[in-house]
Amino acid sequence: MIKNLRLLLIGGLLTNCAFAQKLTLPVETAHNALVLQVSNNNDLTQVYFGEKLNNPSEYKAISPGDNNDYSGVYRSAYTSSGSRNLLEPAISIQHADGNQSLDLRYVSYKQEKLSTDISLTSVKLKDPVYSIEVTLFYKAYIKDDVIEQWSVINQREKGDIILQKYASANLNLSAKSYWLRQYHGEWAKEMRPEETQITHGIKTLDSKLGTRANLFMPSVFMVSLDRSSTEDDGKVLMGALEWSGNFRTDLELDPQDHLRIISGINNYASAYRLKPGIDFVTPAFVYTYSTHGKGDASRHLHSWARDYKIMDGKRDRLTLLNNWESTYFDFNEQKLFNILKDTKELGVDLFLLDDGWFGNKYPRNDDRAGLGDWQENHNKLPNGIASIAREADKDGVKFGIWIEPEMVNPKSILYNKHPDWVIKQPKRDEYYFRNQLVLDLSNPAVQDFVFGVVDSLFIKDPKLAYIKWDCNSVIFNAYSAHLKHDQSQLYVDYVRGLYKVLQRVRQKYPNIPMMLCSGGGGRVDYAALQYFTEFWPSDNTDPLERIFIQWEYSYFYPAITSSNHVTDWGRQPLKYRVDVAMMGKLGFDIVTSKLNPHDLRFCKDAVNTYNAIKSIIWHGDQYRLSDPQTDNVASVMYVDTLKKSAVMFNYLVNNRFDSGSKGPILLKGLDATRKYTIKEINLYPGAKSNVNAETVYTGDFLMKIGINPNVDARRSSVIIHIEQAQ
Ligand code: GLA
Repeated sequence: MIKNLRLLLIGGLLTNCAFAQKLTLPVETAHNALVLQVSNNNDLTQVYFGEKLNNPSEYKAISPGDNNDYSGVYRSAYTSSGSRNLLEPAISIQHADGNQSLDLRYVSYKQEKLSTDISLTSVKLKDPVYSIEVTLFYKAYIKDDVIEQWSVINQREKGDIILQKYASANLNLSAKSYWLRQYHGEWAKEMRPEETQITHGIKTLDSKLGTRANLFMPSVFMVSLDRSSTEDDGKVLMGALEWSGNFRTDLELDPQDHLRIISGINNYASAYRLKPGIDFVTPAFVYTYSTHGKGDASRHLHSWARDYKIMDGKRDRLTLLNNWESTYFDFNEQKLFNILKDTKELGVDLFLLDDGWFGNKYPRNDDRAGLGDWQENHNKLPNGIASIAREADKDGVKFGIWIEPEMVNPKSILYNKHPDWVIKQPKRDEYYFRNQLVLDLSNPAVQDFVFGVVDSLFIKDPKLAYIKWDCNSVIFNAYSAHLKHDQSQLYVDYVRGLYKVLQRVRQKYPNIPMMLCSGGGGRVDYAALQYFTEFWPSDNTDPLERIFIQWEYSYFYPAITSSNHVTDWGRQPLKYRVDVAMMGKLGFDIVTSKLNPHDLRFCKDAVNTYNAIKSIIWHGDQYRLSDPQTDNVASVMYVDTLKKSAVMFNYLVNNRFDSGSKGPILLKGLDATRKYTIKEINLYPGAKSNVNAETVYTGDFLMKIGINPNVDARRSSVIIHIEQAQ
């Protein structure tokens, strides 16, 4: 096994290095290498990360130290605190005897091949004085240049120790300068980018919100080396923590001008008690690195996500009609029956019943009551959801339902019966986010309840085909009646409890598609996407806004995970709204029965058009052609893996006089030697296209000269289908 990995074990001393080393351990992917070295006094240093060398025997010649590294551990592979370290630690603990020092030294390593494409390297470290062991894991996905990194902490002291900081990864980069692209947001303003040069000191990206942790900031980020990278040029690392709760990523530009990236669960208010003999497993920090710009890096991440991470990443998705924006809480059985007919008429796969279907003593007629009482409301649904499901079956469409099972309104039977299941301070006033509180998922009884919410839906309707899992509140007044004296474990144990529930759901219902939602994009990460097929990027469905939001998300998450619904938000024409929603997983949330005949015809045709091209969008490679942040036209392209068929989406994003695509846009990702035809698709009924469908172009021409989609104020949205000529 080991011989396949070009693993190097180098004995002896190197004369040209500041510090002698006794082991060099490269972790390689198709194009890159992360190189670890062990010094003679057993410090584990990460000496290199970047493009791999042609001759792996040369890794041992990399100098492991800096001349002025006073501590000898500036570039530690996992920086411990309280001993020699002078910089931001990855791990900080209090021993059973109250001592706070830690010094982790190399013990052993293991490298194994999990498949032809995946290797797993683990390195065991140990404190020579205290019985603490930390194992670092590097899981390399070779073809996609992706690495997942995490640590496992174990202790055998005489009593409990306290983990004060317990990062997943400690990555060291070297370049002339470093450029951070980070994201911030708020409700309906998700994924706003900021790109700046990193200065000395520490820049921290973090969340302290608990549940919908990404509301103000997601854990995804990019770091460009030497200069800000562009779509197709430059060195860039994209990273994210696979964790659905509080995260913290420190980017420290150290005195030697190295960038130290330390990422993990946020230790804010989260000192964690660890008993002897128990493994504390940190979540994975995932990253990819490319020397060919952001586009290449993102395609690697997409490919990895679909192959290995997201639920059913290689399978299909359902198109749907949702009733949220057309009815809000105001519906009854008959209204839903009518919407089922509309679902059929529109031609989408599924009807999704949103919020408002439950609660009797405290009916869910607005967002002030009922959360937690998951029984059908007798007035709205006298015959239960089983009757809606039966009717859907008759109409030949599937049926899905909205739940928000981690939450409770104080006006609910659940709250009255189990106040101790609710996260709230016992001696302080309650404080609400959307009139609700969060259930304490650190408590196994609450985990059973939340699993039961899902399970009971399938008992009522075994054919239930889809779940929208919402999560609208952050955690205020963090306190768990269950955790008693271990309050600082709540943020961590909440997320672990959530994963336990999701594992149970997936064991029993392995194939049911589920959407991860949180009043928009407050919740998406690669740990959660192991259980969810898709996420809701934003409640903001104004298509102009969505172009920007979807564009930024698309660097990190493939289109197949992006639920995009056509709604009445925004001032753009229906065609523009539908075209934008097509760049992902198409859904509708409009009253189709009120559409005029042309609009209805257009939507029905659009569903057919989408069905013909959706597999290119879901499973193909994404190329960004024209950036809405800098150009008047946004242009995105998806190319199928065989390069036979592609779709190019173009949108006007500037309404100033005479804005539009003034010249050709260069296509990407085609085969230069093949011939292609281009054709405008998804035209509004009666509209004529000025794109010439007769001309045959080489891929070479389309990628060097390009085509002008002729986007302007009258043609504000244009989709072009590119097909290999026979
Ligand atoms: C959140 C979701 C919406 C909708 C409502 C229902 O805001 O983002 O899509 O489901 O909840 O209350």
